[in-house]
Amino acid sequence: MNQSNQKSTNTTQPNKLRQPQIIAVTSGKGGVGKTNFSVNTALLLAKLNQKVLIIDADIHLGNVDVMFGISPDYTLVDVLKGNKSLKEIIKKTPYGVDFLPATSGIMDMIEGEDNIVRSIAQAFNTFQNDYDIILIDTGAGVSISTLSFVLGTEKIIVVVTPDPSSISDAYAMIKIINQNQDNAQIMMIANKVRNDEAGESLFYKMNLIVNKFLNTSLIFGGSIMEDNQVLASVHAQQPVVIRYPRSRAVINMQLICRRILKLPVRQSIQKNGNYFDRVRERLSNLDLEGKSA
Ligand SMILES: Nc1ncnc2c1ncn2[C@@H]1O[C@H](COP(=O)(O)OP(=O)(O)O)[C@@H](O)[C@H]1O
Ligand SMILES: [Mg+2]
Repeated sequence: MNQSNQKSTNTTQPNKLRQPQIIAVTSGKGGVGKTNFSVNTALLLAKLNQKVLIIDADIHLGNVDVMFGISPDYTLVDVLKGNKSLKEIIKKTPYGVDFLPATSGIMDMIEGEDNIVRSIAQAFNTFQNDYDIILIDTGAGVSISTLSFVLGTEKIIVVVTPDPSSISDAYAMIKIINQNQDNAQIMMIANKVRNDEAGESLFYKMNLIVNKFLNTSLIFGGSIMEDNQVLASVHAQQPVVIRYPRSRAVINMQLICRRILKLPVRQSIQKNGNYFDRVRERLSNLDLEGKSA
């Protein structure tokens, strides 16, 4: 009963459960534009007929709700207290995208980050097949919670800006991903750049280091210009895709969305059980020290 009455998009057979694509958005450093990118990309993917869930998985500084200009009725705290199920706290936004809030402040409630991730993982089976795409806006940098969300996703997007510390922190992040996951498909987005050339050269620089020291390659997702209309939208608490649909940043993100959809889905990952089951497994054996490099 669950799938037949829904507007199915990229699923092939109506009776078959959807197998969502899970995309994690991460970075080495905070403030590089992950949340802005995640929220607006979710909206653009929805416009391309994808049923999208965005998970605010930045346990320390989650602010997807602020960018949407909505306040969640319930949060993960309610789930952890046993008052709500995870599915019940999923919020519908006015923009056709669903949103699962994991707010800051949650750290006061329970002992470790891994417990939060475990509790999300446990309940994940109940809703994952309702979506074509699950976009996870993670925290910055190398922490257990961020990595457990990032590793094992089909597509990992790393947002980088021209700021030197963004570049070095992104490298550290990519290195850890590479150590913990063979053949990770990592797409780099150059954000807050002056023009396309600056974005391309940032990618070139990053990819060169990754080629040389990690013996792997990044995929270029595209560039997003530094655009005042992004800032204005954040202040107005409205996604830039809605407020300024013709702005440069939105046009840039449209192109990136098409590239994301074109990336192949790797069957090996899909066959290997549910994504969040893997998250739980991974929590116990992460290599955070980079000893194997
Ligand atoms: N392309 C852009 N042009 C101008 N400002 C941007 C752009 N992308 C992000 N910003 C601004 O940078 C700040 C940090 O963005 P945010 O998405 O919250 O970063 P993160 O989630 O990585 O911490 C916000 O004020 C946002 O408006
Ligand atoms: Mg953020």
